[in-house]
Amino acid sequence: MTLTTEQTKAPAFELQPYKSLEDEVLLERIEKVRAEMDPRLLILGHHYMQDQVIAQADLRGDSYRLSALAAEDEDCEAIVFCGVHFMAETADILANRPERLAGRGGRRVCVSLPDADAGCSLADMLDIEQVEDCWRQLAEVIDIDDVTPITYINSKAALKAFCGRHGGIVCTSANAAAALDWALKRRDHALFFPDQHLGRNTARTMGFTPERMPVWNPREFELGGNTREAIVQSRVILWRGHCGIHQMFRVEDVDRFRARYPDIKVIVHPECKMEVVDKADVSGSTGQIIRAIEESPPGTRWAVGTELNMVNRLRHEHPEQEIYFLSSMVAVCPTMFRIDLAHLCWSLENLAAGTPVNVVRVDDETARWALKALKRMLEVK
Ligand code: 13P
Repeated sequence: MTLTTEQTKAPAFELQPYKSLEDEVLLERIEKVRAEMDPRLLILGHHYMQDQVIAQADLRGDSYRLSALAAEDEDCEAIVFCGVHFMAETADILANRPERLAGRGGRRVCVSLPDADAGCSLADMLDIEQVEDCWRQLAEVIDIDDVTPITYINSKAALKAFCGRHGGIVCTSANAAAALDWALKRRDHALFFPDQHLGRNTARTMGFTPERMPVWNPREFELGGNTREAIVQSRVILWRGHCGIHQMFRVEDVDRFRARYPDIKVIVHPECKMEVVDKADVSGSTGQIIRAIEESPPGTRWAVGTELNMVNRLRHEHPEQEIYFLSSMVAVCPTMFRIDLAHLCWSLENLAAGTPVNVVRVDDETARWALKALKRMLEVK
């Protein structure tokens, strides 16, 4: 699926020839643009990037940290986002928020995504119309002013704007508990979308039982497949969405590792199913997983349940630890994997030539409301 990006001028360079260049050539040319454009250029990289790509990032992080970095940077003129579309949208909203624009005399930071097809299957599972329909139906059963919408950052900007408009918040896997706590302190119910697993795992740690967490299935005609009573007694209504990659980790994988290495520590991303998170020792965002491993005593055995590129890199960067990939399947995020050296070099050379490609630009009205929910996300601890 090609996502919405802007192209105001025809690109100076076409993509195709870059695909047949050797890596050494691409690296040399990337380095040249970086040197020429420094410090006006900021390359951000998500932990799921391939090794060669992440090595070119000025800064790397999980979704939370990358949002904070885009919000903080005051000097750059362009961000090339080595990640997926919702991350670039978030960077555009934060880097071009009104106070920052005013400080720069109206000049926008250009945010570009090296491959316009780098989306997120979880974010693509949910459209604004579906949430609006759900909201209308909920209003017939409970006081809608008593519901806080929370969107996981893996969602389209229009969903973030919905949360901004309705007194809601954005969360990432790094601060979901704080965001849900914030939401439920203000109102009796929360509507959590689009990842049911992150919502369930988080609500569980706050003591909520499954009866208080009905699942809203947008394919069901009435009340997302729930009874009125289930909605009335709910605290957290979970949207029926998921990340396909994290569903590959199974309880049997955890059991297999524990049987082989009784002292092993299992760490997983909270997008995994609840049964898997329950069996793990720790769960956390990609950044939190990396930190836990870095801070553990040398010689610790870990089985890690998140995207393969990141786990392989952890293994190489931390030979002092014994790191295993939790699944026997190849859990690579195919959309993150789209960003390669050829796309990065192509986007950088076009940027330097004044014809940026795949510019991600959220319209002003959507950005204005989404910013409210994103600011709340950055404020809650
Ligand atoms: P993080 O917030 O941990 O970086 O996760 C992002 C993501 O897309 C996981 O699938």
